[in-house]
This record gives sequence, structure tokens and C-alpha cells, in this order.
Amino acid sequence: MPAKSTVKPKPLVAGNWKMNGARASLNEITVMGLAYDADLRRNVDLLICPPSPLLYPAATTALGTGIAIGGQDSSEKISGAHTGDVSPSMVLDAGGSMVILGHSERRTDHNEKDTLIEHKACAAIATGLVVIICVGETRAEREAGRALAVVRRQLRGSIPRSANAQNLVIAYEPVWAIGTGLTPTAADVAEVHLAIRTDLKKLLGKQQGEMVRILYGGSVKPSNAKELLSVDNVNGALVGGASLKAADFMAIAETYR
Ligand code: PGA
Repeated sequence: MPAKSTVKPKPLVAGNWKMNGARASLNEITVMGLAYDADLRRNVDLLICPPSPLLYPAATTALGTGIAIGGQDSSEKISGAHTGDVSPSMVLDAGGSMVILGHSERRTDHNEKDTLIEHKACAAIATGLVVIICVGETRAEREAGRALAVVRRQLRGSIPRSANAQNLVIAYEPVWAIGTGLTPTAADVAEVHLAIRTDLKKLLGKQQGEMVRILYGGSVKPSNAKELLSVDNVNGALVGGASLKAADFMAIAETYR
């Protein structure tokens, strides 16, 4: 039997503020930075994705803390007459280094499909951003036994050819677990993450596929972080509600101390 690889990707705990927060909320990033000591920095990467008007001040606030700042979406287009959209180079220029793409709220609110997400990812990677592509089934899809098929279809449809372990992160977020307080069992998380890992190795090659970080997202809280983050092939979390308060977010990050 071949030796099992022991090299694992460095975990990432990412906060998605969604359409929440104001300039006063930036103090939470300052407080997070104070708790993110050298020991924790060695073990886990941290990222906060504020709404776009806060990107630049958030990046300024985070300077020197080791916390990365990212966007919640970016356009597939580079610039021009696209009112309301934000280009990947604007995210970069504002001090962002990563961007969330294909979040289920964008898939629902803005009817985003896999092909569009792939185009957005392609543009963001070409600009130099790391993309966090979100996948996940609805409640009805899980109940119909289609969770794995849906996630695998989203993966194949939304990962661009230019992706590798350095510029791609996957977030598995069951839609029914987002903001509901419900979470899948550890066994269900393990099953989906293993399927994602297997497909990533097929799509990107074994070495790259092994090193892509696969985050779990959906009602991650300090009280359930340890259980969810210790599941095989879970390399961190994408945290919504609990990322708005430094105390909760850092309690989740502390899992990796
Ligand atoms: P939640 O959101 O942690 O509030 O469930 C997660 C997400 O949508 O990224």
C-alpha cells in the first residue's frame, strides 16, 4: 500500500460579514489582530471579507495584524460600464488578497450559475486574487439523496483551468445550514469533503488536489467548531454570523492552537 501523505494544507478560518457592518465594526478586526499571536499565526490563516465599501479601511485596519482581507464577490469583467459591480483589480487595489465567489446567497439573489462563477474565478485568478469557490446542496437536494451529485456538478462547473492549490480554496456550505443553527453530522461533512478532495485530485492532479484547502461553512460557532474542524479533509471554516464579533471568531480560530 502506498504511504499516506502527511503534508496537509495550512488551515484557513475566513469570516464573511455579508451585508453587515459599518466603519465602527472595524474595531472588531483590531481586537482580532490583538488575539492573533505568533503561535496562532503559525497554525492558521485568518481572513475577513467585509462588504465592499469597507474593503479599503478594513485592509488599513488589518495592516500588521497578519489578518488578510477579501471581497465577497467580484465581476467576471475587468472594467467598464457595469454599474454596481466590483472588478477583481478593485478588490486587489483596496488591499484585498482573496475573494469569495459563488456563495449560495449570490446564486439565489443574483441567479449566479456555475459558468458565470467559473468566469469570475478566471478573472480573479488572472488578477492575482485567491478565490474561495462555494458549493453546497439545498435541503430538498439533500433529502432527495442528491447532495454529492450537486456539489460535484458545482465543482466541475465552476473551477477554472488556471486554478491550483495556491489560488483556489473550496468552501462546502450546505444551503440549509447557513444562518439556521443547523449543521450536518460529522459523518456527512466527511463524506462530502472526501468527494470534493477526490474530484480536486482528478481536476488539478494529485499533488495540487491534495493541497487545496476545503473549508466547511454553515452555522459554525465556538461551540461546534472543534467537532466540525476535526473532520478529515476539513481545512478550516467559512464563518458568517459568528465572524462579526471578534470574541466568537477568535474562539473558532483558537481550535487550531
Ligand atoms: P453562517 O454563514 O455562519 O451565518 O451560517 C456562513 C456563510 O454563509 O458563509
